[in-house]
Amino acid sequence: MASRGGASVVLVVLCSSLLGFAPRPGAAGKPLVPAMFVFGDSLVDVGNNNHLASVNDSCKANYRPYGVDYHPGQSPTGRFSNGYNLADHLARWLGFAGSPPPFLSLANARARHTRRTTVSTGINFASGGSGLLPTTGDSVCGGAVVSMAEQVGNFTSLVRTTTWEGSKRRERTAPGLVSESLVFISVGSNDLFEYSDFFADPKNRNVSRNDTAFLGGLVALYATYVKDLYAAGATMFSVVSPSLVGCCPSQRKIAEDTHDVDGFGCLGTANNLSRQLYPMIGSMLESLSQDELPGMKYSLGDAVAMAQWIFTHASTPPNNFTTPDRACCGSGDFGSGACNSSAPLCPNRSSFFFWDRFHPTETLAAVTAQQLFSDNGTFVHPINVQQLVAPSSRP
Ligand SMILES: *[C@@H]1O[C@H](CO)[C@@H](O)[C@H](O)[C@H]1NC(C)=O
Ligand SMILES: *[C@@H]1O[C@H](CO)[C@@H](O)[C@H](O)[C@H]1NC(C)=O
Ligand SMILES: *[C@@H]1O[C@H](CO)[C@@H](O)[C@H](O)[C@H]1NC(C)=O
Ligand SMILES: *[C@@H]1O[C@H](CO)[C@@H](O)[C@H](O)[C@H]1NC(C)=O
Ligand SMILES: *[C@@H]1O[C@H](CO)[C@@H](O)[C@H](O)[C@H]1NC(C)=O
Ligand SMILES: *[C@@H]1O[C@H](CO)[C@@H](O)[C@H](O)[C@H]1NC(C)=O
Ligand SMILES: *[C@@H]1O[C@H](CO)[C@@H](O)[C@H](O)[C@H]1NC(C)=O
Ligand SMILES: *[C@@H]1O[C@H](CO)[C@@H](O)[C@H](O)[C@H]1NC(C)=O
Ligand SMILES: *[C@@H]1O[C@H](CO)[C@@H](O)[C@H](O)[C@H]1NC(C)=O
Repeated sequence: MASRGGASVVLVVLCSSLLGFAPRPGAAGKPLVPAMFVFGDSLVDVGNNNHLASVNDSCKANYRPYGVDYHPGQSPTGRFSNGYNLADHLARWLGFAGSPPPFLSLANARARHTRRTTVSTGINFASGGSGLLPTTGDSVCGGAVVSMAEQVGNFTSLVRTTTWEGSKRRERTAPGLVSESLVFISVGSNDLFEYSDFFADPKNRNVSRNDTAFLGGLVALYATYVKDLYAAGATMFSVVSPSLVGCCPSQRKIAEDTHDVDGFGCLGTANNLSRQLYPMIGSMLESLSQDELPGMKYSLGDAVAMAQWIFTHASTPPNNFTTPDRACCGSGDFGSGACNSSAPLCPNRSSFFFWDRFHPTETLAAVTAQQLFSDNGTFVHPINVQQLVAPSSRP
């Protein structure tokens, strides 16, 4: 894939002690961390997939009506949302204007002979459709997406080769800056979708299945990515677990078709996978931080518990959601058809949980980001992101 074959990018990261950061619209004052590095899937992709030539529209969001509420421009950017996504909202809580830019847009700028690309806020490596397994997304998307392994590899080689310029007084090494920055990861949902879809297909009924082994394999891979990020200098990790994947409109349709409907009206087997995976991710992170990776700190968002809460408090103030099950953009049952320029659009996007058949609206993503940042211990463990990045909690 030509767009992914470029040489490593040389970035100049401006040091906050030299220039300072302008106040951002999202928060008063300077950001709480110098930079943010984002990894994972379509919940946090801000346009990397736009650069993947062989990936088809099912894993791209660079066409209308995606971005219909995006500021500025009300135009599609590659975010799988009507507006900002989860990475943008969390970045805003940290004091940035939005997510850092997509890695592949920088790689392409390099290919166009831009000598230096200035990135002061970090980089977003996430790729829609990707998962923990190296091949997740490739067949669904009609071409190879950037797997977690590749995203982490791109980051580590960038850190190795980057010139990070600081003030003459306080020059920072790349790993030094990375250690003060937040790593944000949202991955795993697509692995669960593909596994669950496979076994929902009647022709695979006889294929032997071992959920424990499958989920254990995912978590083992997750641990290798966290270790590689740590080896490159990262110390602060905000991780959000896969949510109740059986509740998105595409899976609600499958639930009805296959008579596997749980108490929320969602696909029971898929939700069960999410419920089993969360504590496994929790144990993995706890054991890495306590034993193997000195100084590693994390904040884990329990997206299963968050989903259960929002489904039962949809219209409890300050929430104003009216429609938990239908996609705002999409045709057919639950709006489970593709979201594209010919799909019908709901009148009031902020009252829907789901923007399209897989992804939350900007409004729901905002609720999640606020919980990740400042939850009191109900949904985020062992500390929230605000506590994670507080100077007193730094290693
Ligand atoms: C990112 O990683 C992939 C897989 O290792 C590699 O093919 C690609 O060249 C890398 N991209 C850049 C811009 O370094
Ligand atoms: C994308 O490619 C996949 C795999 O070939 C195919 O199933 C899907 O229908 C395609 N989607 C679009 C929108 O072209
Ligand atoms: C599944 O196995 C049963 C019993 O061995 C057999 O009768 C059936 O034809 C198989 N179904 C499929 C789809 O292979
Ligand atoms: C499923 O996998 C687990 C973990 O690999 C293993 O301990 C267990 O025996 C397997 N179960 C079956 C029924 O094969
Ligand atoms: C989900 O898990 C529960 C508890 O382990 C179990 O009782 C139920 O049968 C499972 N449902 C499905 C559809 O797998
Ligand atoms: C719900 O509506 C109220 C009043 O319009 C507003 O203040 C509040 O922010 C809304 N909540 C959400 C989650 O959008
Ligand atoms: C749209 O939804 C928001 C949030 O649910 C609500 O505050 C607003 O009144 C709704 N607007 C209309 C026109 O229904
Ligand atoms: C939108 O998607 C539907 C499938 O859900 C397809 O039939 C239609 O042709 C698509 N429209 C455009 C403009 O791509
Ligand atoms: C923590 O937050 C939850 C959910 O927002 C709320 O129900 C609970 O009362 C809060 N607990 C404390 C101790 O503030």
